[in-house]
Amino acid sequence: MIFTDKNISPKDITPKNVFEARREIIKVAAAGSFGLAFAPWFSRDAFGASTQLLSATPNSSYGKNIESTPYKSVTTYNNFYEFGTDKSDPSTYAGSLVTRPWTVTVEGLVKKPATFDIDDLLKLAPMEERIYRLRCVEGWSMVVPWDGYSLSKLLNKVEPLGSAKFVEFISLADSKQMPGVRGSVIDWPYREGLRLDEAMNPLTLLTFGLYGEALPKQNGAPVRIVVPWKYGFKSAKSIVKIRLTDQMPKTSWNTFDSHEYGFYSNVNPLVDHPRWSQATERRIGDPKGIFAPKIKTEMFNGYGEYVASMYAGMDLKKYY
Ligand code: MTE
Repeated sequence: MIFTDKNISPKDITPKNVFEARREIIKVAAAGSFGLAFAPWFSRDAFGASTQLLSATPNSSYGKNIESTPYKSVTTYNNFYEFGTDKSDPSTYAGSLVTRPWTVTVEGLVKKPATFDIDDLLKLAPMEERIYRLRCVEGWSMVVPWDGYSLSKLLNKVEPLGSAKFVEFISLADSKQMPGVRGSVIDWPYREGLRLDEAMNPLTLLTFGLYGEALPKQNGAPVRIVVPWKYGFKSAKSIVKIRLTDQMPKTSWNTFDSHEYGFYSNVNPLVDHPRWSQATERRIGDPKGIFAPKIKTEMFNGYGEYVASMYAGMDLKKYY
């Protein structure tokens, strides 16, 4: 069995192999051949991962013919300013984040406000694995098999009131666990927001894992949002609160510089960020590194067929 060979390093294994290997572990563990308790140890030891396995059913509707970015790149090249501003800071420092116990409060303009324990949230709806492209406003992108379920499943439980128009996401900001929060890069806590119809769009994923494992801390454990047709900063990590409102929420990056970061932030190759062109992107983890051919960025990051109708008639240069 390749999994027991300690000489195999994660970087020697192609992403597809890793992916398949993990699937194999899940299958074997689920069949009870060597017991579920053993599976997390196997995974950690063989792949340098730090998390528990998640059982998710692949949903291939959104990610056909697209190769996933290597696990190592996805988990070591991160933006998570609560742990520092360098791409390597989150994987270096996020070990201090305590992810149990953890609760997420859903409040505001809803009929049934509630606080969910993370372990109940995990079981609220069937877990799916969806391969999504994530495009960062800085010009890089990656492709990740994310594990979660549509955020709408949670929002429907709390029954949004007719007056609710927006959804605000608030991340944890605890300076004891998060060294970056001791500095003042942005106004903590990290806040993001969506229009209610965007939040209810089936594509918006309440995300608990990637590559079949619980989210590594640097990727936003234990729960985050993933909105694949918007720039990566809309996908708030390590969230503790979801609030439904009738006013457009103030978001961290828009408050930081409203000329650079709009509320909508749909991926749009025709509207450049003041400092970065948005016409092309570089896929991280490509073995050719900086010589890798640039990829043309697609409108709505390629998800137009699912989301474009939400913006019919809107001037997307004005509502960037
Ligand atoms: N969420 C929080 N709480 N803090 C952050 O700094 N960075 C955002 C987003 N969510 C960020 C966050 C940005 S800029 C990007 S590109 C994505 O997370 C990166 O997600 P990844 O590290 O899983 O690729």
